[in-house]
Amino acid sequence: MPEKVLVTREIPEAGLRLLEGFDVSVLFERPPERDELLEAVRGANGVLSTATEKMDGEVMDAAGRGLEVIANMAVGYDNIDVQAASERGIVVTNTPGVLDETTADVAFLLVLAAARRLGEGERLLRAGEWEWWGPKQLRGFDVWGKRLGIVGLGRIGQAVARRGRGFGMEILYHNRSRKEEAEEELGARYLELDELLRESDFVSIHTPLTDETRHLIGERELGLMQETAVLVNTSRGPVVDEGSLADALEDKRIFAAGLDVYEEEPKVHPRLLELENVVLAPHIGSATIETRDRMATLAAENLAAVLRGQEPKSPVS
Ligand code: DGY
Repeated sequence: MPEKVLVTREIPEAGLRLLEGFDVSVLFERPPERDELLEAVRGANGVLSTATEKMDGEVMDAAGRGLEVIANMAVGYDNIDVQAASERGIVVTNTPGVLDETTADVAFLLVLAAARRLGEGERLLRAGEWEWWGPKQLRGFDVWGKRLGIVGLGRIGQAVARRGRGFGMEILYHNRSRKEEAEEELGARYLELDELLRESDFVSIHTPLTDETRHLIGERELGLMQETAVLVNTSRGPVVDEGSLADALEDKRIFAAGLDVYEEEPKVHPRLLELENVVLAPHIGSATIETRDRMATLAAENLAAVLRGQEPKSPVS
């Protein structure tokens, strides 16, 4: 009997092809409701999940004792209770390394769009309200030559730093540990978080979501930033306290923000939706044809490896 695999969302064909030979069920294009997930997971030996499914002990128990692997099609795995998985002997994998440059592109897109007021300008134009070119119209801030502060200098943070270097920016960073090689390669300067927030013109966040990083950027931290500064978040929404960010943007305590991720996706804090000085993207950091193919492929390879008794390429623990 082929082993049972549940794929919780419709994923690119590149990944599905690698699961031929297993008894595969694919759920929906939309995220499954909790009860749909609990029902569908029964008897699964492997689950290929995405960041929208909460994979906790209850889901693992609903699958039953045959569940061997949860392969997340995402680099972030805060949706998975890894402790609960290891207690049950379930391997958890993610997809690091295949989406760094693509996600860095979106971080830099948000840097540029927020600094140059692209969203505001496009709304004006589409509303038919752009009446003339104006010497003082829609002035933003230069990006080139400024200071870019990277919070979390992992693979994605480094890819953003390289883009910053291309724009002649000075790179500052904060990380749990010093990254001496990256310091050398990027000319990056290590700072404590408070100092980085004070000194940066642009702050781009690239930390995973953990108990330590939840609301890492809140009222106090936003208060340290310059009035001309821009905050960008492409990591996980809860790293930034959205209510405090809305206050800071509304009171013009910082110049602008660019967000790809939110505290309660797909909901966006209602006050952010009302503000002109924030660019809002719907979690598209890794959303290119090529990268989603790579993510689906790596997730499927990981899952298949575990079910075949081999080492997965990217286990999280
Ligand atoms: C990731 O890979 O973590 C992206 O945010 C998609 O979930």
